[in-house]
Amino acid sequence: MPKESIIDDSKPNAGRMYDYYLGGNHNFEVDRQAAEQVIKLLPFAPKGARLQRWALQDIASELTQRRGYDVIIDFASGLPTNDHIHQVAPEGTTIVYSDYDPVVVEYAHDILGDTSNVYFFEANAAQPEVLLNRPEVQQILAGRRKVGFVLWGVSAFLTDDAISHIAQYTYEWAAPGSCLAFNAQGADLPPNPTFDQTLQIYEKMGAKFHKRTLTEFRKLLQPWKMDQDFISLLEWHGFDESELAQQDLEMIGPLAGGFGAYLVK
Ligand SMILES: C[S@@+](CC[C@H](N)C(=O)[O-])C[C@H]1O[C@@H](n2cnc3c(N)ncnc32)[C@H](O)[C@@H]1O
Repeated sequence: MPKESIIDDSKPNAGRMYDYYLGGNHNFEVDRQAAEQVIKLLPFAPKGARLQRWALQDIASELTQRRGYDVIIDFASGLPTNDHIHQVAPEGTTIVYSDYDPVVVEYAHDILGDTSNVYFFEANAAQPEVLLNRPEVQQILAGRRKVGFVLWGVSAFLTDDAISHIAQYTYEWAAPGSCLAFNAQGADLPPNPTFDQTLQIYEKMGAKFHKRTLTEFRKLLQPWKMDQDFISLLEWHGFDESELAQQDLEMIGPLAGGFGAYLVK
């Protein structure tokens, strides 16, 4: 998603369309129209967005309560609305959110107000070094490098080089015992010309959607080690599969195309 198109309300924006799928109100008419075009072709789109957000809540409790991290660093966070990580993580957890969309960052500061230990920075996920080396972030972390990273809901819009760089840089930066929660979007999709039409809507907006196989994702994420293999988001959060229409199944396959995994150092 190029930054120029984000504040411009004459063109649809993928981030704001996502907000519309989730039933949010941070979107413009132009986004709603483009989103409705996608939904017509791909009725699964809003369900897919919901699945991604539900999974984030599981990740928040898994990383903090089960795995014991007290620092979460989240890339491409989107709006920190009340279904996001800080609402689920126990009080006292340090959460560093980030997004490259200045409008998201501004709304995020409004939403968070002075919520303690929760921060939101403008940063491109493709360059994790910029976020991690910010003096404010270094001050917040105070040398803590055993962290839970989250890269969720964005991989389809990142190039291979970007994913590989994020994986290598965060791995090198992190202390042993750190974790990366990763969402593989658009993975192992069955070929479908109608689905490809929806991708053209995004491509026209400058947001190239990358389709990959899970095998390709596993390679790009090295040297992180898979703690357990990818799980379909349908299975991740007990999705009621009766919600899937025949058209959904034909477009996205029985596994819904979205997967998540925890990787460890
Ligand atoms: C689909 S939302 C995902 C939000 C959240 N992570 C989730 O899973 O619900 C995508 C967000 O990623 C942001 N984004 C897209 N590409 C990005 C990049 N390269 N760096 C930082 N943010 C990015 C967009 O601005 C948007 O707010």
